[in-house]
Amino acid sequence: MFENLSPLPADSILGLLNQYRQDPNPSKVDLGVGVYKDPQGHTPILECVKTAEAHRLKTEETKVYIGPTGSQDFNSLITELNFGADHQVIDSNRVRTVSTPGGTGALRVAADFITRCKKNAVIWVSDPTWANHTGLFETAGLTVKVYPYYDYDNKTLKFNEMIECLKQVSKDDFVLLHACCHNPSGMDLTKAQWDQVVALTRDVGFTPLIDMAYQGFGINEVEDAYGVRKMAAAVENMILCSSCSKNFGLYRERIGSCSIISKNTAQADIAFSVLLYVVRCLYSMPPAHGAAIVETILGSSELNQQWLDELKVMRDRINGNRKILVDALHAKQSDRDFSFIANQKGMFSFLGVNQAQVTQLKDEFSIYMVDSSRISIAGITEDNVSYIADSVAKVI
Ligand code: LMR
Repeated sequence: MFENLSPLPADSILGLLNQYRQDPNPSKVDLGVGVYKDPQGHTPILECVKTAEAHRLKTEETKVYIGPTGSQDFNSLITELNFGADHQVIDSNRVRTVSTPGGTGALRVAADFITRCKKNAVIWVSDPTWANHTGLFETAGLTVKVYPYYDYDNKTLKFNEMIECLKQVSKDDFVLLHACCHNPSGMDLTKAQWDQVVALTRDVGFTPLIDMAYQGFGINEVEDAYGVRKMAAAVENMILCSSCSKNFGLYRERIGSCSIISKNTAQADIAFSVLLYVVRCLYSMPPAHGAAIVETILGSSELNQQWLDELKVMRDRINGNRKILVDALHAKQSDRDFSFIANQKGMFSFLGVNQAQVTQLKDEFSIYMVDSSRISIAGITEDNVSYIADSVAKVI
């Protein structure tokens, strides 16, 4: 039976991690997977997380099953963080949230929920989008189509083309939008553009699925949720997938959430029953540890403030890295303008070199990035930025 299998390629992002780890070059640079790194190139555990874990160790009383919804406290607090505590979907009891194994788990729950709404549903994703979106949705039985988004030549958005394309989408389709810190391009919608997309979503009637994996890494945790909150206030049905991997630094604990907004409470209860069925069939119930940490932080005004401060440190460092990279690239060569990198948001940007140059950077200089030339800005440090800029100048 198993001889029927054909090998599949390693994941385009996670596959780089292994290659990087095995590379003996002391000058190697990891600009691949999207994880925060401090100036020493280390991914630290946040202090607020350590405090919450110590508290958890003292107060946890049982390891009994938690149930498909995960922690109710986490679900309430994360819903308030995502939508804003006084959002009308919370006041009107139209939103239902489950804890999920990371943001990817949330997306897979959402995909299975969508197939319960409509068999063989179509989901539209931005061109480009996170490399795992397509495989994840197709594996769940959805048909994936793309709408124009990033203009590689001009390093900006193809906003008019995006709008024209979305006008043609069927009201029975789903459209995936990135809340902030677009992965992989770093190009976000402005508030005015979000307003237009929200109005269009309501007019055309398709269902939005918003992926918010980087809340707090763009401008701040409130501004980054502008599109989410605006959309939720305007439409009857919406899905939100969020992740605590980056903003709480809880990558390996696998904690995220999937929220379903329905047009009224009765409909929300039905949607919730479907959500629970989907979860039970996929993985029965989520792990509890990450949720316990997040709910301890969000439930304490002191820890919450500490988290916001630590989140700001991570955000400021990434924005600072954008600037030092642009300065270093410009100092090493004068032919190309890289200033767009400083204006983009979040963990990623495209460097804008071709695939042969990406391979050359990896093979000759041990600088690792995704084939599309997506770089993880957090991997840049004061120590390696000059080496990166020098190597890039050599390959272009
Ligand atoms: C990334 O895009 O690098 C991150 O979201 C990590 C992942 O799982 O791909």
